[in-house]
Amino acid sequence: MSSNIKIELTKNSKIDTVDFNNLPFGSILSDHMFVCDYKDGKWQNSTIQPYAPIQLDPSAKIFHYGQSIFEGMKAYKDTNNNTLLFRPLDNHKRLNKSAERLVIPQVPEDIFMDGLKKLLEIDNAWIPTQDGSSLYIRPFMFASGNGFHASPADEYKLIICTAPSGAYFSGKVKVLIEEKYARAANGGVGFAKAGGNYAAQFYPTQLAVEKGYNQVIWTDDNTHEYIEEAGAMNIFVRINDTLITSPTSDRILDGITRKSILQLARDKNINVEVRKITVTEVVTAAKDGSLKEMFGAGTAAVISPIAGFGFKNEDFDLPEFENTFASQLKKYITDIQTNKVEDPYGWRVTL
Ligand code: PLP
Ligand code: COI
Repeated sequence: MSSNIKIELTKNSKIDTVDFNNLPFGSILSDHMFVCDYKDGKWQNSTIQPYAPIQLDPSAKIFHYGQSIFEGMKAYKDTNNNTLLFRPLDNHKRLNKSAERLVIPQVPEDIFMDGLKKLLEIDNAWIPTQDGSSLYIRPFMFASGNGFHASPADEYKLIICTAPSGAYFSGKVKVLIEEKYARAANGGVGFAKAGGNYAAQFYPTQLAVEKGYNQVIWTDDNTHEYIEEAGAMNIFVRINDTLITSPTSDRILDGITRKSILQLARDKNINVEVRKITVTEVVTAAKDGSLKEMFGAGTAAVISPIAGFGFKNEDFDLPEFENTFASQLKKYITDIQTNKVEDPYGWRVTL
């Protein structure tokens, strides 16, 4: 309950140093953070405190065995100065799904939601109002308990930090279809937002960046014949007028943006298919002109159109035209998120 949250406010707000008209993504942190400890078999000591470094024992299991998960959400303002969240309970559910896979204790909904709401109340002035900007929210949980025994820790922390943020990508996104590395495998943790999944992506992504691409299109680990995700986004492909995305699996994150877009596209009478997409199909469509669009979808990046892709030393450009599915769907979802249009599914939560 929020009444059980201990609150310590900062005496040195940094807000006046922030240029809200030029926000980077995720690198300016707001004044406060929510912290809750799991100890002696229960979550306790919910506090909101000034954003600051935390102390951990060097043998804390997070450092050695990577027991760490996170979520990504955003808070928005509407023109009446209401604070809005988008499907926050889905993030809470997914956090617990990731937690189960990493043997991190389940966090009760009231601890998560009350902490989040109180934090947004206290740091309300940090929520940007500029078009295209929002307050990125990063809840995360990790093993703070100690010891080198390779087994789950006995203590954990849940922390929620926020960062007023602008666009995730600046400029055109060029991707490389991965033929060797994989971000996830059957039976693994690809469906979870485990920190280690992202660490494992850095090396192949770095190789792609060295070749002039921004991101990797992940393919299945077994055959590399199917395209699955785009960096830290779900992927959509438009062939002629059909919008296609891969089904979720052990290897693919069940994105909240992805499932919202599927619904909104159907509402716009766009023909949608949720099925496996082969690399061959995409390359063939690029060659014969039926590949109209590719885009990534995720909380941080919203909808990011892909300008071109590389595969086996060949580059393919996607056509540029007006009123793409990506632009229509981006407008529709952000208009719902920011209360510019009706919210037909009750996704918006006003605080
Ligand atoms: N895929 C991966 C690997 C991600 O990290 C994310 C980001 O959260 C997504 C997809 C998109 O998920 P969501 O739309 O819930 O943010
Ligand atoms: C998000 O879209 O919120 C994510 O978590 C992606 C992140 C790795 C920037």
